[in-house]
Amino acid sequence: MPTKPSTIRGLIGAAERELAAGPHSERARMDAELLMLHMLGKDRAWLMTHLKDEFPCDLIRRYGELLLQRYNGEPIQYITGETEFYGLPFRVTPDVLIPRPETEHLVEKVLALAANFLAPRIVDVGTGSGCIAIALAHKLPHAAVTAIDLSAAALAVAEENAKRNGVAIRFLEGDLLTPVADERFEIVVSNPPYVPATDRATLAVEVREYEPSLALFAGDDGLEVYRRLIHAAFDALIPGGFVVLEIGCGQSAAITELLARSGFEQIEFVPDLQGISRVACAQRPI
Ligand SMILES: C[S@@+](CC[C@H](N)C(=O)[O-])C[C@H]1O[C@@H](n2cnc3c(N)ncnc32)[C@H](O)[C@@H]1O
Repeated sequence: MPTKPSTIRGLIGAAERELAAGPHSERARMDAELLMLHMLGKDRAWLMTHLKDEFPCDLIRRYGELLLQRYNGEPIQYITGETEFYGLPFRVTPDVLIPRPETEHLVEKVLALAANFLAPRIVDVGTGSGCIAIALAHKLPHAAVTAIDLSAAALAVAEENAKRNGVAIRFLEGDLLTPVADERFEIVVSNPPYVPATDRATLAVEVREYEPSLALFAGDDGLEVYRRLIHAAFDALIPGGFVVLEIGCGQSAAITELLARSGFEQIEFVPDLQGISRVACAQRPI
């Protein structure tokens, strides 16, 4: 008769087999380990030397609950409440989009442009977890960074993340750039919602069922927010200032048209690691 695994290694192995039957079989082992570490409050280095330890019986039920959440498709970052962006730690809850690695290209582009200014005023529109604004404030101690979101719940998470990472950011609640209508900036940056609402069914269960709709969808063509934002960004920038936007796959032609129509020049795109145009950048004429 098979006996129940009683070591940490045995439990992780059993969990891996369960998760392998779920929606993300390719990362079953990694998730089984991450959930174990999260529950025990330990790190990977600890795990390497404790695989043969006896697993505490009283935690078996809790581990099973975490595995079930993951098996049902809940993102690992929401279960653990933690993620990393630009080498910094972030708390994430279902009120905020989980920061994506490709958004680091957006940060890179803003950092390069910020070098043109002594003490740039930068505004991040749709800050979510605060990842972009916080990474920028961390790297640019002389910049004045403002972060805006329509969601008060997202802003609460972003404020907590700013504190945690030791950066000072002005957080404002409101629609796009309306909370700073009377101000001017050197750089407007945004990773706005850009998924066409008609694509909802094609999204992975993790995204579709767990991430906030407000962070994802922008009308039937995915361009609804850009249409208003690009226009507002032009007015918010000083002459010679830059707008830097994350864009969705296949949106570069439409974004070029929107930017040009609003009066922007020097329009360029930065590809991601797959070669997809991921970041749009343009300058308000001097
Ligand atoms: C794609 S998420 C990006 C979050 C974060 N900046 C990141 O890169 O992970 C878009 C964010 O925009 C916010 N948002 C959506 N519509 C908005 C609006 N009209 N005004 C301000 N923020 C908005 C959402 O609440 C969400 O936090």
